[in-house]
Amino acid sequence: MRKDPLHTQLCESLGIEYPIVAFTHCKDVAAAVINAGAFAVLGQTQSSPDEIAANIQWLREKVGDKPFGVDLVFPASVPAHGSPEELIAQIPKAQREFTEDIKRRHKIPPPKKTPELYDLGWVNKETPQKQLEVVLDEKVPVVASGLGNPGFFVEAAHERGMQVWGLVGKARQAKKELEAGVDLLVAQGIDAAGHTGSIGTFSIVPQVVAIAGDTPVLAGGGVTTGQHLAGALSLGAAGVWTGTLWLPCRESDVEMRMKERLLEATVDDTTFSNCVSGFTMRTLKSKWHEEWASKDAPPPAPAPYQLFLFAEIKQSGLDWDLPDFQTEAAGQGVGFITSMKPARQIVFDMVEEAHDAFDRVFGEDDD
Ligand SMILES: Cc1cc2nc3c(=O)[nH]c(=O)nc-3n(C[C@H](O)[C@H](O)[C@H](O)COP(=O)(O)O)c2cc1C
Repeated sequence: MRKDPLHTQLCESLGIEYPIVAFTHCKDVAAAVINAGAFAVLGQTQSSPDEIAANIQWLREKVGDKPFGVDLVFPASVPAHGSPEELIAQIPKAQREFTEDIKRRHKIPPPKKTPELYDLGWVNKETPQKQLEVVLDEKVPVVASGLGNPGFFVEAAHERGMQVWGLVGKARQAKKELEAGVDLLVAQGIDAAGHTGSIGTFSIVPQVVAIAGDTPVLAGGGVTTGQHLAGALSLGAAGVWTGTLWLPCRESDVEMRMKERLLEATVDDTTFSNCVSGFTMRTLKSKWHEEWASKDAPPPAPAPYQLFLFAEIKQSGLDWDLPDFQTEAAGQGVGFITSMKPARQIVFDMVEEAHDAFDRVFGEDDD
């Protein structure tokens, strides 16, 4: 009888059944994934400190003693402080004028509501610190850093019995975070949704595993099936870190129209550009991307300025139903998500597919 390949070091250290980690902004998805025996990390960069405290309490009520995580980002290259209004006033002229030109040519009306993205925590360095204070006070079992080295809070987290996870896209970054004492690394490839580096998942995962020693590594980027999970474990990962997979699931709070678009999308329908936030990011293709790739376009503004330009267009797209100007972070694995399933079903299907994949390679287990 062979050992269960899905029962990894991650399952041992967290007391979970399956080595699947969901990154999600949606509390309902997080609760469903956790209660199905996997693990969830709630993205909280867009929440105020009070909202974070309330969300943590809500999740605790839904999952009881089961562990969960919170994700924040700590980018090094954004301004130290500044309100959205102050930062918007600093948007460089060339990019502001090009955006005005896009609005004129495509007849995009101003948004009806203030763009939600204006609340993003990472537009300055000050807000993530305030968000972090709440997460530390609440002693959330895992705090993950999606951008920036979390080394500066490792000691404070460990004193509170919390684990610190770091997302990396390069071996050099992994080495620095290991030296800083992180408890787990997510090695993420260019296939991933959201902010990501330029190395493929198949190359970055074994590279990080090779230097991580006893520190577990999760594979992130393009993971949407059990075959991907089996592949990730074979590369030496202790589990998978997934984002896109949960966007069109039954519980997800993503708009129905966007869910349908995600379910229809193929692996060719995403693109990698810095025109959304100023950092390189994988999202669904849109007219906004076409415009910034045109020969007359200036280079996108650095983060966070480009994000403010896009946030207004995104909100107009939502308010006036302009699908060409709507996009969403999505990884290349989106092409394998074809039906809207409950999160619990996604976990179980992934586990079964991974077992099937191992059976195909090693032959069926006798037991
Ligand atoms: C809609 C969406 C928003 C995201 N926002 C964040 C974020 O705020 N912080 C973060 O660390 N990662 C964010 N990510 C990236 C995920 O954490 C994860 O690294 C990525 O989705 C993995 O690749 P996959 O989508 O191919 O599974 C986001 C991903 C998606 C799909």
